[in-house]
Amino acid sequence: MAAASAPGLAAGVLGAFCLVLWFDVISCEQLSSAQSVFGVVNKSVTFLTASSIPVKDILWKKRKDKVVEKEENLDESIYPPFRERILLNIVTGDLTIFNLSSSDEDEYEFESTSIKDSIKFFLTVFDHSRHRYVLLAVPLLVIVLIVILLGAFQRWRAE
Ligand SMILES: *[C@@H]1O[C@H](CO)[C@@H](O)[C@H](O)[C@H]1NC(C)=O
Ligand SMILES: *[C@@H]1O[C@H](CO)[C@@H](O)[C@H](O)[C@H]1NC(C)=O
Repeated sequence: MAAASAPGLAAGVLGAFCLVLWFDVISCEQLSSAQSVFGVVNKSVTFLTASSIPVKDILWKKRKDKVVEKEENLDESIYPPFRERILLNIVTGDLTIFNLSSSDEDEYEFESTSIKDSIKFFLTVFDHSRHRYVLLAVPLLVIVLIVILLGAFQRWRAE
């Protein structure tokens, strides 16, 4: 009984862990019809509108909060915490954010009267520490699994 349940338990734990990892990635894309964009803390990221025509007016939002707004023939207004930290392409509407922090991770939306539907992006910001933690967890789980399986195999041979 012990020999049969130990590998089963290990496989269950590994399966649950993979499921969590998998859902973590999938949920961002499927719950909202947003394009996934990935960035790294302190680096920059650019959201491409892929607009083939010059846009007249621009509004970028982070959920409900305005990031930057530009009416036709007027200067752009940049809202905190994005002041001094973004670059807006006023022809295409492309938005670049510099010096990313983990609090920038969210859904962003581009609106313009020049395009029919708004465009949504989901930004995931990788923190080096969090990344390292995941990279460590995977080999650790594999080692635990091997140890449990070896233990079960030895017990099975001893019987
Ligand atoms: C990001 O930049 C800040 C300030 O320059 C620094 O303190 C921090 O360690 C940097 N973080 C990473 C992950 O590089
Ligand atoms: C990023 O932040 C650092 C320190 O906080 C600053 O020196 C640097 O100019 C910033 N880079 C950009 C592109 O804003």
